[in-house]
Amino acid sequence: MHGPVPYCIAFRRWNLSGVPSGDARVPPFGQVRSLRQAAGSIQALSPAQLPLPGLAPLHMMGRPRPHAEIAREPERALRRIAAVPLQILVTGGAGYLGCVLVPHLLQQGHEVYVLDKFLYGGSGLLECCADPRFHPIRGDCREESVLQQALAGCDVIIPLAAIVGAPACDADPFAARSTNLDAIRLLLRLRGRSQSIIFPTTNSGYGIGEQGKYCTETTPLRPISLYGRTKVDAEQAVLDAGNAVTLRLATVFGMSPRMRLDLLVNDFVYRAVTDRAVTVFEGHAKRNYIHVRDVARAFVHVMENFSRMNGEPYNVGLSDANLSKLELCAAIQRKLPRFVYLEAPVGEDPDKRDYIVSNAKIEATGFRPRYSLEMGIEELIKGYTILRRHQYSNLN
Ligand SMILES: NC(=O)c1ccc[n+]([C@@H]2O[C@H](COP(=O)([O-])OP(=O)(O)OC[C@H]3O[C@@H](n4cnc5c(N)ncnc54)[C@H](O)[C@@H]3O)[C@@H](O)[C@H]2O)c1
Repeated sequence: MHGPVPYCIAFRRWNLSGVPSGDARVPPFGQVRSLRQAAGSIQALSPAQLPLPGLAPLHMMGRPRPHAEIAREPERALRRIAAVPLQILVTGGAGYLGCVLVPHLLQQGHEVYVLDKFLYGGSGLLECCADPRFHPIRGDCREESVLQQALAGCDVIIPLAAIVGAPACDADPFAARSTNLDAIRLLLRLRGRSQSIIFPTTNSGYGIGEQGKYCTETTPLRPISLYGRTKVDAEQAVLDAGNAVTLRLATVFGMSPRMRLDLLVNDFVYRAVTDRAVTVFEGHAKRNYIHVRDVARAFVHVMENFSRMNGEPYNVGLSDANLSKLELCAAIQRKLPRFVYLEAPVGEDPDKRDYIVSNAKIEATGFRPRYSLEMGIEELIKGYTILRRHQYSNLN
């Protein structure tokens, strides 16, 4: 008998590489109790039922032909597959999400290529350089030859590169469209059929929700800002192309080596720590939230369950954190009692976000966030003890 790890990994990898979960030839992941049982069920297949489509990427990487091997010696072959790390391309991997995701993927034993222009520097990934499985590439994901080279041999593509947020997109609409949408279309044209995509988008496209009604993945997306529109169009293109899963992320919070202070929770906690006060506009507008480390875990969850999640969008957020801005301030005040907040009509959300989100679909696949909003606020308070926006001030 073999321990649970090798056969789990083998089957996860196998699922990831595209065997439809309803394929009668393949025992569903989770029902196989041992590598031997998995191997036995494969051995029972007639030669005509092999090759199994899910093993195709191994051919593409120029590795030995596992189909023949599996037919002959399934147990050994499965163990070999289990030992093969996935090759993952993360575009924009030096950003806020990438600097948490990339070390997480390396920790899982994968080979990670990061294609990034390093717009915000790349110091968040310096720690990864000691890992032989980490491969940074300085380049622009909009350039065909650069992207083509980066894609070679990858099993999974995680396109994070983007001009992120409504203000940044409005400041340079050409860069926004070419990076957020055209580069994704280019990627879809260049990638091989077996190369799976896991694409993050924003759930801000849900815009103004109906009072008390949860937005699900079937709720129409009506983005208003250029950022929202480019992301929603890119998501549609990715889903239409197939062999892809999209993650509609709630507002992300938490510390990352490439920090973003423009995200709502990160921003409010920063103000609470440094100014002890915030003026809130549209204070009753609700949103959903998710910790940056849970976002990294969600990508890995998709990789491990790819065949049954394939072709679908999933909301990713904390089901117990559909909170208004004022409720968020109250949660911060519970950790920092001297923090004061008041509401005033001093601004307007470019995407008119006011909605509550259901995350039941991804939860039904077994995903559960590990980091609560309270844990995130505590973490941010610690982080801001270290970080300060000193550089443009005469005072420390
Ligand atoms: N952070 C969130 O709250 C959130 C929520 C929903 C979706 N997303 C999506 O997740 C992705 C990553 O977001 P983030 O918060 O890490 O953003 P970020 O701005 O921190 O990182 C973006 C990265 O993309 C790189 N980049 C930009 N243009 C590039 C180009 N042409 N070629 C190569 N690299 C380029 C930048 O250098 C940067 O490292 C984006 O696609 C974003 O739309 C983020």
